[in-house]
Amino acid sequence: MGNPTTHFSQRYGPWAIVAGASEGLGAAFAESLAQRGVSLVLLARRATLLEQLAVSLRKAHSIEVRTFSLDLSHSEAIQDLCQEIDSLDIGLLVYNAAYAPIGSFAEQDREDLLKVVDVNIRGPLVLSHWLAPRLVTRQRGGLVVMSSLAGLQGSPKLATYAGSKAFGTIFAESLWGELKPHGVDVLASCAGAIRTPGYQGAETGKEAPGTLDASDVAEQTLRSLGKTPRTVPGWVNKVAEWILGRWLPRKIAVAIMKKNTESLS
Ligand SMILES: NC(=O)c1ccc[n+]([C@@H]2O[C@H](COP(=O)([O-])OP(=O)(O)OC[C@H]3O[C@@H](n4cnc5c(N)ncnc54)[C@H](OP(=O)(O)O)[C@@H]3O)[C@@H](O)[C@H]2O)c1
Repeated sequence: MGNPTTHFSQRYGPWAIVAGASEGLGAAFAESLAQRGVSLVLLARRATLLEQLAVSLRKAHSIEVRTFSLDLSHSEAIQDLCQEIDSLDIGLLVYNAAYAPIGSFAEQDREDLLKVVDVNIRGPLVLSHWLAPRLVTRQRGGLVVMSSLAGLQGSPKLATYAGSKAFGTIFAESLWGELKPHGVDVLASCAGAIRTPGYQGAETGKEAPGTLDASDVAEQTLRSLGKTPRTVPGWVNKVAEWILGRWLPRKIAVAIMKKNTESLS
């Protein structure tokens, strides 16, 4: 068996895009990919954080890093990005960025909710649609869509986010079936709670059971790429997925989720 790092960079390199890379899980994906020798296109709104990460990754690993400060809810910005990176040989997209407004659906602002559709659905769709034909031509590569256990059953106070994550999971599983014969691996990673600034900012009580570090989620996700259409990082979350998503009647699964999401603010 060859070196797994070389195998990874040959299959999914030489370049990967990490969408939503300025902190938290996206930054952890960038680190894990850099360790595997993959050069990076890092996307997020906060240019300074992206540039700081790029400097440290270039210093620690023999890779190139390009940063693009853009808002993934703006479709023109994604079009411009695609033109700017057209000449790079990109073998992998990790779509990590997400928008998750918490609250009562009836009281939430409609335009704000539509941003969830733009960032969590339109963004991964457009970038995957841009990259997929290139990967099919190369006969190798991958797409990773960060999803959530919240998308496996109704999640009160997170209705639009949870619906967008259900899209991400089924979208990725569908593409797995379509693209596997062309040598392209697609994966939905359905995470439970992760210690990221986004999650820690929303959580008011104590951590949910099975909460993981971002580096563990990134590693477990990348190790699952090519092996399965859907992965759930962490054994506590695997059990939760089985119980909530497959075993319990839906109304009980939604009621349990509601107890968990009630404390979010
Ligand atoms: N954290 C959890 O507990 C948890 C649980 C289950 C699933 N997940 C999933 O895991 C992923 C990461 O979760 P997280 O919320 O904790 O986030 P995170 O990884 O800490 O950060 C989100 C990243 O997305 C970027 N981003 C957000 N909106 C953007 C926009 N409009 N345009 C460009 N970049 C944008 C942010 O950067 P800027 O602000 O600089 O733009 C940041 O780099 C998400 O897909 C989420 O659904 C998380």
